Amino acid sequence: MPPVTKGLEGIVAAETAMSFIDGEKGVLEYVGIEIDALARHSTFEETVFLLWNRRLPLKAELDSFCADIRSRYELPPGMEQRLTALPKAAEPMHMLRTMVSALSLHDPRPNDNDVESARQKSLNVLGHAPTLVAYFDRYRRGLPIVHPDKSMSMAENFLYMLNGERPTPTMARALDACLILHADHGLNNSTFAARVVISTLSDVYSALTAAIGSLRGPLHGGANEGVMKMLNEIPTVEAAERYVLERLEKKDKIMGFGHRVYKAYDPRATYLKTLAKKLAEDTGNAALYEKSSRIEQVMGKAVAAKGIYPNVDFYSATTYHCIGLRLDLFTPLFALSRIGGWAGHIIEQLADNRLYRPEASYVGPHGVRYVPVGER
Ligand code: SDX
Repeated sequence: MPPVTKGLEGIVAAETAMSFIDGEKGVLEYVGIEIDALARHSTFEETVFLLWNRRLPLKAELDSFCADIRSRYELPPGMEQRLTALPKAAEPMHMLRTMVSALSLHDPRPNDNDVESARQKSLNVLGHAPTLVAYFDRYRRGLPIVHPDKSMSMAENFLYMLNGERPTPTMARALDACLILHADHGLNNSTFAARVVISTLSDVYSALTAAIGSLRGPLHGGANEGVMKMLNEIPTVEAAERYVLERLEKKDKIMGFGHRVYKAYDPRATYLKTLAKKLAEDTGNAALYEKSSRIEQVMGKAVAAKGIYPNVDFYSATTYHCIGLRLDLFTPLFALSRIGGWAGHIIEQLADNRLYRPEASYVGPHGVRYVPVGER
């Protein structure tokens, strides 16, 4: 029996043709294209096409792919009623996990998992999920539901449904860039969860539900909410250093820093830092960016030597706040994007499947006699 590798750290459990990550150099490519180039020049829809088809689309293909997604913005009949029967105090990530699972009940053939059926079901969830999040947020705030507008891109339409007005091009572009940056990232915990579930030849909805459950965790997708809570707790830029050093002293983890794979600057954080700075200045949130920048300086001095740098969540928090997202919508936004990557991995797993079934090293006793309950 080989030794236990806790957290499967460093274990190669699958092949993928989507994300390439060099953790030492801080490199991330989607199908060979640097993440920075995609964030600056692509769109989320084009990026999902790239991930699923391993190439950039021709113009006609992209138009058709966007039209297909937009045709799935509206929820299936009955889902809105189900959504507005939920407690308004429900956490959006719990809502999303529950409602993505419920989508399977509206699919006449929920268990079909040939590659084309998996693609269709993934498109359903990709199109419906932003509507679920926006509808639930409007409902819990006591505001009228804003139905999707198929003339808009996913980023524009999400902000439109959330706020009841068309977003500015700057806000829509910023959100689109965030969706691109969060779309895929190798065999992260939630992606692995999706691959583990689909490897039993279960269904796409079950695999995506499992992934959403994993992403909610504060060590994973939930970190962006943790970063914002931290920024709100630090009263001034000047107080940042003491706040961070006190927590490091207690061996607390600073949210938005560190990574299982990156021992260099997370390349996604590079672009997000630029975006956060511009949006913070444009929206009167300069102090928020200054606090983040100060925290980064303090962490750089204290722990960069241990390979601990900002990760994708650190500056996405400020970016989401400046876009006007409520704090508990940060991780759902991460999920909306990562549905693209999760679906790509589900399709990869189905195309060359092997049931995941690792071993556990038994450390309990042997040869124990059964004692009837009356004699214990
Ligand atoms: C995401 O896997 C992915 O690809 C994930 C992701 C994706 O796109 O899917 O990139 C998205 O999940 C980003 C990570 C978001 N999480 C956080 O920001 C939470 C804070 N980060 C940490 O919990 C931690 O860095 C992890 C969980 C991300 C990685 O942890 P590891 O690899 O298990 O590292 P570790 O906990 O063993 O820490 C190694 C050392 C320890 O110090 P020593 O005991 O060796 O002295 O580094 C320290 C840790 O205390 N450390 C930190 C730290 N992260 C690690 N110290 C302070 N603050 C931190 N954030």
